[in-house]
Amino acid sequence: MSEPCSKGELRLCRQLALEGDSAASFLAALKSGKHSRSALVLSPRAAADYQPPFPCINTEADPNWAWLPPRVFIPEIAGCKPASYDDYREGKYYLLDLSSCWESAPLSCVPTPSRSLDLCAAPGGKTMLMHGRYAASEKHVANEVHAARRGILRQNVELCGLPRLEVTGLRPDQWASSGELFDLILADAPCSGQSLLAKGIKNTGCLGASMVNGNAKRQKGILLAALSCLAPGGHLLYSTCTYTTEENEKVMAYLLKRHPHLQAVEIELLEPFRSTLCSFPAYRLLPAHGFGAGGFCCLLQRN
Ligand SMILES: C[S@@+](CC[C@H](N)C(=O)[O-])C[C@H]1O[C@@H](n2cnc3c(N)ncnc32)[C@H](O)[C@@H]1O
Repeated sequence: MSEPCSKGELRLCRQLALEGDSAASFLAALKSGKHSRSALVLSPRAAADYQPPFPCINTEADPNWAWLPPRVFIPEIAGCKPASYDDYREGKYYLLDLSSCWESAPLSCVPTPSRSLDLCAAPGGKTMLMHGRYAASEKHVANEVHAARRGILRQNVELCGLPRLEVTGLRPDQWASSGELFDLILADAPCSGQSLLAKGIKNTGCLGASMVNGNAKRQKGILLAALSCLAPGGHLLYSTCTYTTEENEKVMAYLLKRHPHLQAVEIELLEPFRSTLCSFPAYRLLPAHGFGAGGFCCLLQRN
């Protein structure tokens, strides 16, 4: 007999328009906790022709992986432990959840920025991905408000040898009043982290209204501040690792309504993941897609 669903689970399924078998398999994925999937992001310490010392999936030939960022490998064997190799300890690659790589796919539509800001950067996964795409960028700032997490971010970028990267610790409102402008801002926002459940990580209250609404409010604040630093023509990439619409499509709809000069950008590579829960281009990943625990992303451009 299947387990009874909580109010939060039922509310989420209804919100995501999941019914019958698709609702049952979504909830089973959350309960199984088995949807964690690792990816390797090569650092500048790995040569251009570097190959990981264990078998990896041949993603190049497979159109299902067309969205995968450059210099990212997916270990082939489920039991393979990429963190146990010297190459990892030497910073040749960084380990990241595969869904985080997926969330960065819209960057394929963004030309090399001269100035970029990763506003919520620790522990540094998206910073590594940004650096992989835009090594030629003039200025790349990785910002993290929490001191302890900023320390981890610093260690990671040092280990992986990211040159010319500035690590800062300003709050979004301090950035807003700094007068600095960036062509690309990444806001991988703090969120209720519902996808942690699908990775087998306990996250009490993440389906509850107070956690979700509190995060949505904070996300809007972070994004409004980020917009003050966005240069005309610049891009803002928003991402979360949670499923609820309040923290995803509704946050984007709020910004688009308040700022008519913003436009959500169509990402051709992510067309199979296009959200049907809003009228503008935004993308969501669920465990059923097979690329990790899931997430959300939406790329905005300032006209
Ligand atoms: C989802 S994590 C970022 C993960 C990171 N981008 C990566 O790929 O490794 C969100 C980050 O936002 C930071 N954060 C929390 N509250 C914040 C706030 N009010 N403003 C800005 N950042 C905040 C957290 O400390 C956390 O490091």
